Amino acid sequence: MPDSVPAEAPPDASLLPILLVPDARLRAKCRLVGPTEADQIRDLSARMLASMYAAPGIGLAAPQVGVGLRLCVIDLQKEDAWAPMVLVNPEIVAASTELATREEGCLSIPGQFAEVTRPARVKVRYQDLSGARQEVEAEGLLSTCLQHEIDHLDGVLFVDHLSALKRNMMLRKLAKEMKAKARE
Ligand code: NI
Repeated sequence: MPDSVPAEAPPDASLLPILLVPDARLRAKCRLVGPTEADQIRDLSARMLASMYAAPGIGLAAPQVGVGLRLCVIDLQKEDAWAPMVLVNPEIVAASTELATREEGCLSIPGQFAEVTRPARVKVRYQDLSGARQEVEAEGLLSTCLQHEIDHLDGVLFVDHLSALKRNMMLRKLAKEMKAKARE
């Protein structure tokens, strides 16, 4: 179930800069959020949601804002309605053998998209902001998004699911575009 987090960021919630490849912090394995970190997580997740909406994107993981904690936020924003989810210590506890292919992108790899094949359905266990255990069974876009965000917590990016050739082509193209942009 989605957490009841304010859909709109409080006015003082400053946006967090989103790290881009090849930042090494995107490749680190994140640690579990501890029970004493609830306040920090509440503030961080609100700022992550605000940053995700501003980007705009439908998912953001803590390492993408330089925080090595197992925390991610998701909002598919279906039919233009806010439905923010905050997932603390999420883990995939079951995955279907059936696969599904969907186009993915990532705020840390701007402007690059590719088809990625993953399990079609997953069951994810996590804690909400109050520390209560939650479970979600997902298919479709939510399933893809959950797997993509949980990957981030282990330093895995969607391009890692592509062939080395495709991945290198994509990262080289991005590096070239960023270089050109820096010259503007
Ligand atoms: Ni991503």
